[in-house]
Amino acid sequence: MKHLFEPAKTPNAPTLVLFHGTGGTERDLLPLAGRIDPNAAVLSVRGNVLENGMPRFFRRLAEGVFDEEDLKLRTKETYDFLIDAAKEYKLDRSSFVAIGYSNGANIAGSLLFHYRDAFRKAILHHPMVPLRGLKLPDLSRVSVFIGAGTNDPICAPQETEELGALLTGAGASVEVHWERYGHQLTGSEVQAAANWYQGGK
Ligand code: MLT
Repeated sequence: MKHLFEPAKTPNAPTLVLFHGTGGTERDLLPLAGRIDPNAAVLSVRGNVLENGMPRFFRRLAEGVFDEEDLKLRTKETYDFLIDAAKEYKLDRSSFVAIGYSNGANIAGSLLFHYRDAFRKAILHHPMVPLRGLKLPDLSRVSVFIGAGTNDPICAPQETEELGALLTGAGASVEVHWERYGHQLTGSEVQAAANWYQGGK
């Protein structure tokens, strides 16, 4: 997959894996990486799907209606990419931390739903429930921060609660942070994610 890699600034630092929103690129979330962990390695991925020229991580049939077959296929494709990238750049797979926004949070969420070892931690900004009716893996070693909007027109608060409950039910430690700016990713939400991460959750 098209991506950008920046090595860690200190030995044994984790790897932040960045997933942009619809229409974004692998450069979009770089400022977030600097605020979350400036010493970390950065592996920032571009989605392989194009929707009217806009990069995404999987196809959708309509706004908020996912093409589930494509989502499953792209989830495996992305997981395989992470394994290959870890080998290529000599990264410790067990230190991978996802940071995703919107469509990028949804592919990161789908990776958590499918694989117990995809990420050690995940920061999901405005995610949805990626798939329903799936038996989740044991996520008891995984911590998740969810940034959500009480008035997000794309993801209703009930869906955020549902996602949190599904992840918690699989053993993950989950913190939900609420904002009131719709689907936007605000500076205060990024700060809350940084506080969560730096607090060692
Ligand atoms: C999605 O398609 O993943 C969600 O609707 C969010 C987005 O607009 O990208």
